Amino acid sequence: MKSKKIVSMLMATVLSVGLLAGCTSNKSDAKDNGESKILNLYTSRHYETDDKLYEEFTKETGIKINVVEGNPDELLERLEREGADTEADLFITADAGRLDAAKKKDLLQSVSSETLNRNIPENLRDKDDQWFGLAVRARVLVYDKERVKAEELSTYEALTEEKWKGKILTRSSGNIYNQSLLASFIAINGEEEAEKWAKGLVNNFARDPKGSDRDQAKAVVAGEGDVAIMNTYYVGKLLNSSDPEEVKVGEKVGVFFPNQETTGTHINVSAIGLTKNSKNKDNAIKFMEFLSSDFAQKQFAQTNFEYPANPKVEASELLKSWGEFKAQEINLSLLGEYNSKAVEIMNKVGWK
Ligand SMILES: [Fe+2]
Repeated sequence: MKSKKIVSMLMATVLSVGLLAGCTSNKSDAKDNGESKILNLYTSRHYETDDKLYEEFTKETGIKINVVEGNPDELLERLEREGADTEADLFITADAGRLDAAKKKDLLQSVSSETLNRNIPENLRDKDDQWFGLAVRARVLVYDKERVKAEELSTYEALTEEKWKGKILTRSSGNIYNQSLLASFIAINGEEEAEKWAKGLVNNFARDPKGSDRDQAKAVVAGEGDVAIMNTYYVGKLLNSSDPEEVKVGEKVGVFFPNQETTGTHINVSAIGLTKNSKNKDNAIKFMEFLSSDFAQKQFAQTNFEYPANPKVEASELLKSWGEFKAQEINLSLLGEYNSKAVEIMNKVGWK
């Protein structure tokens, strides 16, 4: 039930995610729709859960998923460059802003699917049905439970106070998660305030940004800093890691949802869109529908510790144990709109 509440809060933020599907033509069985039995997927997600889902889809349908994994901007550029010749049927990114950019560049097409409309709430899909959200993540404060009390934490803004000098950890400005975080502040507070925040944060960095989200939690536990800004699901991954050292890190950190009394915690969404030039549209939509199903959504929730987009599917026990939270209420397409501004500010304030 908690997960439903969270999801309904998330809905208030109009998320933009794209969904595209495609097929190519090579006829294999009699009931074939004339499309290829291979779907080409460009994705910037990098999780084992996804590979397992592709395998399961192939098992159910005989349609193979050919995955091209990469940086979201490079994939977007590639889609644009390939134009009508692209082999890509579907585009997935872990950032709504990127899907919105694909839509604006006319690289996606609208999908009319009752299944998708039923499974993915309106606020988690594009208003023209060009992309559909699959999984939601929150960018939270992770702290060492021995050295920091939750009561000391409040907002992202408070991390720029003198008290946190030399204590803040987060990854580099080249990372899309931080770019979108700053873009959300531009959308909510304006450019000037966003720049002030970024400058204050850089001032309080414990070290030059490096490593993944998971590495920030490790640095917190190692005492390099006290508070890390990172995505929720990585805490779940640490706690469920096959490496006992990672499990220890997961156990030593607390999760704090900032800005609960103010503008809400920053969220983003992984989403899928059907490419404009997909040659395997029916099969691609089948795949999109599969990813929105209870089965697939449960995998995102249980094995990748994301908040499922489908409100019928509950969040994992771990995520439920962190409680409900208030999310930022902005249209997620704004993350794309303010991306270059965010990168410009990061460069200006010396966020490496
Ligand atoms: Fe990630």
